[in-house]
Amino acid sequence: MNCLLLVARFILLLGVGTLGVPPQPQERGKTWALLVAGSKGYYNYRHQADVCHAYQILHSNGIPDENIIVMMVDDIAHDPENPTPGIIINSPGGEDVYHGVPKDYTGKHVNSKTFLHVLTGNKTGVQGIGSGRVIESGPNDHVFVNFVDHGGPGILCFPDDVLPADELIKTLKNMAQKSQFSKLIFYIEACYSGSMFDNLLDDDLNIFVTTAADPFESSYACYYDEERMAYLGDVFSVTWMNDMNSETLALNDLHHQFERVRTRTNTSHVEEYGDLDIGNTKLKDILGFNMKNMNSIGSAYESGNLPTMDVHDNLHIPLKIVMNQLEKYKDVSKRKELKTELRSLQKKRSEVDAVIDKIINNLLDLDEDSKDDIRVGRHSLNKQNFPCYKKLFTLFSDKCFNIPKNPYVRIHLQKFVNMCGVPGLTIEKAVEAIESVCYDEERYVNFFAQ
Ligand SMILES: *[C@@H]1O[C@H](CO)[C@@H](O)[C@H](O)[C@H]1NC(C)=O
Ligand SMILES: *[C@@H]1O[C@H](CO)[C@@H](O)[C@H](O)[C@H]1NC(C)=O
Repeated sequence: MNCLLLVARFILLLGVGTLGVPPQPQERGKTWALLVAGSKGYYNYRHQADVCHAYQILHSNGIPDENIIVMMVDDIAHDPENPTPGIIINSPGGEDVYHGVPKDYTGKHVNSKTFLHVLTGNKTGVQGIGSGRVIESGPNDHVFVNFVDHGGPGILCFPDDVLPADELIKTLKNMAQKSQFSKLIFYIEACYSGSMFDNLLDDDLNIFVTTAADPFESSYACYYDEERMAYLGDVFSVTWMNDMNSETLALNDLHHQFERVRTRTNTSHVEEYGDLDIGNTKLKDILGFNMKNMNSIGSAYESGNLPTMDVHDNLHIPLKIVMNQLEKYKDVSKRKELKTELRSLQKKRSEVDAVIDKIINNLLDLDEDSKDDIRVGRHSLNKQNFPCYKKLFTLFSDKCFNIPKNPYVRIHLQKFVNMCGVPGLTIEKAVEAIESVCYDEERYVNFFAQ
């Protein structure tokens, strides 16, 4: 009997094989995760805190460490300004989230090239760099990417370079074509993060993206900690991670999480992009699940009794941190020092503003209405105008203020998008205007406008 069955099976297998139908049943794939904090400097405490916390959630939810890759400069935990060396927290009075975090790529290895190599599984690309580990995902695997950092229209910042949207989209498309994932989920906390995907990401690639902000706005920092003199988290990140602490919520799907996080994040517009059907994927299939992680934060979340977050616009955090300290300190000499620091930050910002003004004023032959459109307009990025925008912001970053070193300039980059859409302005004229103002490349080499 058994023997007969075996023979029957053998014949069946043979038959299937010769018919050309794939012989193996669909394997249930693995989940891979790439967690990235793309900033450096103590005043950006929150980015690494968010990413370390994301690691703790995935790890305790049962995603094996061998499938999790972390990129972070790793300059926060042991920064002299950190009053609790070796400890990073992500909420007031919260637990340490730093312990056990894998340090695959740290320091200068946190850059856009390494990020793309790791994401695409390019081992030769990271040979001799960091842990050398990459996402080795196959057609049945899910990939979760969580990126937390500064962003501008159509760019994500790394400490020393930027990742333009067209390169990210091209990479994701290539990965889809090479069947490097079954589903790819991207959670991204950055100012203007919607602009990385809006009009740019196709909806047939099995990619589902949630962004902290729409294409035109900041995302928000939260939880200012007086002792640490730092914001501990960002609203969108903290909100989706709190969402993981309640059983009814964590067993739900991505789209439900998106809806809840969007409702609760009232400081910016949380958006979704890509293949929205993927939204019906269970959260546990992407982020794992562990009953032990369900806690009171989760039930507070469900009932809507959330802690106040003390939020602030991410574009103005450096100023706000100094102002917060001015409120705290009474000592005269300390206050003097802080006031000097504040004035210096403001002065550098004004210098950037003045250069931008000059560039716009140097757009000759353009009437005032068109110039106003450049100053305050909201032209959208798309596949057609992206090359023009990329040329202008690259030139600005090379000749005027280096974008990753001067995160403040992101506030003005929309004007370069607008220049690519204003009737009567050619890209040559825009280039000329930038070059006429920023002719001396050395002038801004050591300029850091935060
Ligand atoms: C991997 O990275 C190397 C080094 O940058 C590059 O030359 C190569 O083309 C990359 N391979 C793929 C498949 O993209
Ligand atoms: C956002 O929500 C919080 C808490 O739910 C509330 O305290 C705050 O006033 C809201 N902010 C805005 C801008 O609506």
